[in-house]
Amino acid sequence: MIVCVCKSVSDRTIRSSIADGVDSFDELQFELGVASCCGKCEESVRDVMLQSGVCASRCGVGIELHPQAVPLTFYERKAA
Ligand code: FES
Repeated sequence: MIVCVCKSVSDRTIRSSIADGVDSFDELQFELGVASCCGKCEESVRDVMLQSGVCASRCGVGIELHPQAVPLTFYERKAA
């Protein structure tokens, strides 16, 4: 599914970048260009990050907004 229409970035591409070690919203924005045009995809990008287990630590969304998120290290994500 396309998450960022402006840059044609799919959730699959975002997950692939996360699996390759990208672990912050800023890095995803830099690497893929997500949320760098109209910005309407930012919440969806952050949702994909949350689902991938990287949100609580570095994506910029406070853990109190989604306490189910547990920060995972790069190696923990790779092993999952
Ligand atoms: S939809 Fe992602 S920047 Fe416009």
